[in-house]
Amino acid sequence: MPEFDVTVVGELNLDLILYGLPADLAPERELLADGVSLTLGSSSAIFAHNLAALGSRVGFISRIGDDPLGQISLERLTAGGVDVSRVRKVSGRTSTGLTVILQRPAFRNILTYPGTMFEMCFEDLDLNYLASARHFHLSSFFLHRALRPHLVQLFRRLKDTGLTLSLDTNDDPEDRWDGDLREVLRLVDIFLPNAREAKKIARLDDLEAAVEWLAQMVPVVAVKLGPEGALARCGRERFTCPPLSVEAVDPVGAGDSFDAGFLHQHLQGADLATCLAFGNLAGAFSTTRPGGTEAFRDHQYMKDFLGRHWPAASALVQSSPKAKS
Ligand SMILES: Nc1ncnc2c1ncn2[C@@H]1O[C@H](COP(=O)(O)OP(=O)(O)OP(=O)(O)O)[C@@H](O)[C@H]1O
Ligand SMILES: [Mg+2]
Repeated sequence: MPEFDVTVVGELNLDLILYGLPADLAPERELLADGVSLTLGSSSAIFAHNLAALGSRVGFISRIGDDPLGQISLERLTAGGVDVSRVRKVSGRTSTGLTVILQRPAFRNILTYPGTMFEMCFEDLDLNYLASARHFHLSSFFLHRALRPHLVQLFRRLKDTGLTLSLDTNDDPEDRWDGDLREVLRLVDIFLPNAREAKKIARLDDLEAAVEWLAQMVPVVAVKLGPEGALARCGRERFTCPPLSVEAVDPVGAGDSFDAGFLHQHLQGADLATCLAFGNLAGAFSTTRPGGTEAFRDHQYMKDFLGRHWPAASALVQSSPKAKS
């Protein structure tokens, strides 16, 4: 039996979130926040953490700096049950990245120093380690600047070894959505974009048309619809799932938590409807605490929440096989 259920290659950094800031951020003034949270950030790390919290065996490779931010990130991931033995710590001019989120009354400002995230390269990866799993996942496709030219090769190699593959691109900061992405998509078994990303990648304004286009290339497509829930498509099967009614306090990491819930069920052999329902539940659960991992760090809270909501959450899924052409 392989050592891990899932291996992940990705970026690893913290999120520093400031709450209760004034609407107008006037220059040169001392502006007061009424809350702060330093929490595990980065899509890949949130995904890995929450997947391990749900009970899957997860191995994670990244590159961090030899600095306190990198150390705290590692500790958070380890505490969540993720194996970080192959994370590469590099001393040098570039330090571990950091995202500062300014939670404003009507929107967020998200400021990211990418740091080592942009420098992780193919040589940082232990391919035997990555292959010692049933499944491989990559998040934040467009943030892996140094690794990007090698991603097709990496996906092909792991597929040839017998792993199944999943991808969540997240946003493209350059808004180009091109290059090698289509080549990678042809190798992927499960694709997990949000609605905006699905439309951008397919270059179509209509979501149904975009899902149809993606489904021609990838066997399983699950699309996140934020506070409107999610949908999933596999061949002629198509399911939709309305959102769970929760008191959402923070959407950060909901998409990564959805991915974790969906894949956790998939790796246990669950059918598409169950994977979708559990992804939808995990995404909603994530929003009930600030940051992307805080809800999942509290094991008792997670157990109670999932236990309380699961039967009803699984019944939310509806089959709607006749996707519009
Ligand atoms: N307010 C909400 N109430 C209930 N469920 C929610 C809410 N917001 C998100 N979700 C659930 O979480 C899932 C993922 O959220 P979202 O669509 O924001 O992903 P995303 O855009 O990929 O987010 P990110 O990449 O920032 O983590 C949704 O598909 C839905 O199932
Ligand atoms: Mg996302």
